[in-house]
Amino acid sequence: MNIFVPGRLCLFGEHSDWAGLYNRTNSEVEPGMAIVTGIGQGIYGYVERSDTFRFRAMNEDGSHGEWIEWPMSVKQLKATAEEGGYYSYVAGVAAFMLEYYDVGGLSVDITKVTLPIKKGLSSSAAICVLIARGFNLTYDLQLSVRGEMEAAYRGEIMTPSRCGRLDQACAYGEKPVLMRFASENIEVERLAVGKDLHWVFADLNGEKDTKKILSSLNACYPFAQDEQARKVQEALGPDNRRIVEQVIGAMRHGDAEKIGKLMDESQRLFDEKIAGACPSEFDSPLLHQVMQDPEVRKLALGIKGVGSHGDGTVQMICADEEKQKALCAYLNSRGMDAYIFTIREQRSVRKAIIPVAGFGTRMFPATKVVKKELFPVVDKDGFAKPALLILLKELEQAGIEEVGLIISPEDREEFDRLFKRDLTIEYYRKLPKALREINVAIQRLGQKIIYIEQKEQLGFGHAVYQAKNFAGEEPVLLLLGDHLYTSNREQNCAGQMIDAYEKSGLLTVSLDEVELERVMHYGILTGWFQDEEERLMQVSDMEEKPTMDYARLYLGVKDKKGTDRYYCVFGQYVLTPKVFELLGRDIAEGKKSEKGEYGLTSVLKEICHTEGMMAYRIDGRRYDIGIPQEYLATMAVYGQKED
Ligand code: UTP
Repeated sequence: MNIFVPGRLCLFGEHSDWAGLYNRTNSEVEPGMAIVTGIGQGIYGYVERSDTFRFRAMNEDGSHGEWIEWPMSVKQLKATAEEGGYYSYVAGVAAFMLEYYDVGGLSVDITKVTLPIKKGLSSSAAICVLIARGFNLTYDLQLSVRGEMEAAYRGEIMTPSRCGRLDQACAYGEKPVLMRFASENIEVERLAVGKDLHWVFADLNGEKDTKKILSSLNACYPFAQDEQARKVQEALGPDNRRIVEQVIGAMRHGDAEKIGKLMDESQRLFDEKIAGACPSEFDSPLLHQVMQDPEVRKLALGIKGVGSHGDGTVQMICADEEKQKALCAYLNSRGMDAYIFTIREQRSVRKAIIPVAGFGTRMFPATKVVKKELFPVVDKDGFAKPALLILLKELEQAGIEEVGLIISPEDREEFDRLFKRDLTIEYYRKLPKALREINVAIQRLGQKIIYIEQKEQLGFGHAVYQAKNFAGEEPVLLLLGDHLYTSNREQNCAGQMIDAYEKSGLLTVSLDEVELERVMHYGILTGWFQDEEERLMQVSDMEEKPTMDYARLYLGVKDKKGTDRYYCVFGQYVLTPKVFELLGRDIAEGKKSEKGEYGLTSVLKEICHTEGMMAYRIDGRRYDIGIPQEYLATMAVYGQKED
């Protein structure tokens, strides 16, 4: 198995990782906050099971080193870890894996290294993550990325080298994450990036003494004894929090100019408040020379130090790719080693939930044997598929990485049969190539699914609430399990919804127009459109199943010609964490509807009146397969190719 682990670059908040740990002894020390990302350069390795722990490094000239081998003994591996040096890292992680997990030996061959070593990009953490991941994948330990990161850290601290807690963020790949450090607790959150961001970092080829830097700064904790220490605590505490929070917003909007300004501000604060704690290291003449170079200033929007700071590495952000390349070339011509690094656009919505635990009484007796979400529908490619598969494909195309499927425990076997069981050899052999490919796609889509059980069918809102832990603090896309969609645009309906959410960051529901005569069947929304095309609406109110009279009086939305139109939810939602909080409260208070169910509408209405809510008129069509007549219509038209 081939593995790649990137190096990591701390963009903002360096030193706040260890500083946040002092929160344990002095609660007035603010928790640390840092934005860290994996970079393009990294370490490649080939791993396989073995009787022993074997490791082969790569020499600086690209040739292979010697194989080094250890018996799988915690004691011997720990002894190597404690000796220090390059092999201590790999032995430390192997010792930890052996002590805590049921693993055998591992052979690790480093095949390529594109990461500059000892340049503040954390090559040691990358190698530690590579070993942890190697054990995880070869022994199918099912460790999450967070678990791998923890194992890498625990291995690295067995060595005499003292790494910080933000180093192992490289486990998350080339994606920026926010790390929060309070006492021993670490929280990691992926960050949204609205547009590609063009970073450049360069080795100043200067000198710095990280040990000295760390001991001077640590002397300012846990209790500030003088003015200088107080300034350091302020800079790494409240100042850092304010800047990091602003950077998160600027990244979400892809605002490189703002990030540049914040970089400059962060370096200015560093020079003003922190540098005095270790002047010999923080005078950093090379860093300041680059910061004042007019040519660099022309190409960069902002400049700051990296890692422990001092004359190690410098980072800058540029407005576009052209300037990024020009800056890199210029720095190289001035005797530095400069690298380009582009942080790619990242969707903020990467999780979806689909409730499929309902009884589907309206489709009885078909639902006595098949879940309605698995009813066959002929897709546009002409193949008959369970409806859920079409929905999952749509989510994959919209960039969704994980899907929480809310199931009733009795139905697990039915979903397993689709996603987890393999075909018999005889069956598989009879399939033509195109269908074999679909079989592979089913397995791939199945890997994104996490089952969440709804033990009692207490309604749609109750089903959604079961996904509270799965959603965590992230926004999630909610789709109905018995609806399908087709888009009139190149971008599918789920993708349109995610884009709409990103415009505001507020709870966003999709809109569909309904005739006034049918409003009593739906949740009806009203508000103001914000754009020329009349797609994005600020919602001012909503009412579940209103009478025609009520809707005519209060819920009409005037179009450009002055005609009243009525809108209901289209079946897709981007939920914010607040939704789960309020659903939890309603369930705890037993606030059921007359039908004895927990709904979602009352919670949406409450958020609409407090935090605010948006709605988006998706450019596409919705198909309901949970009602006989609508299923019939879906069967007739869904698979037809548009001209
Ligand atoms: P529906 O409103 O269609 O309810 O749910 P239902 O119970 O499935 O169907 P009928 O009304 O009896 O015919 C919308 C979605 O929410 C899920 C359903 O599976 C469907 O995908 N749901 C509903 C749950 O997961 N749990 C519930 O308690 C209710």
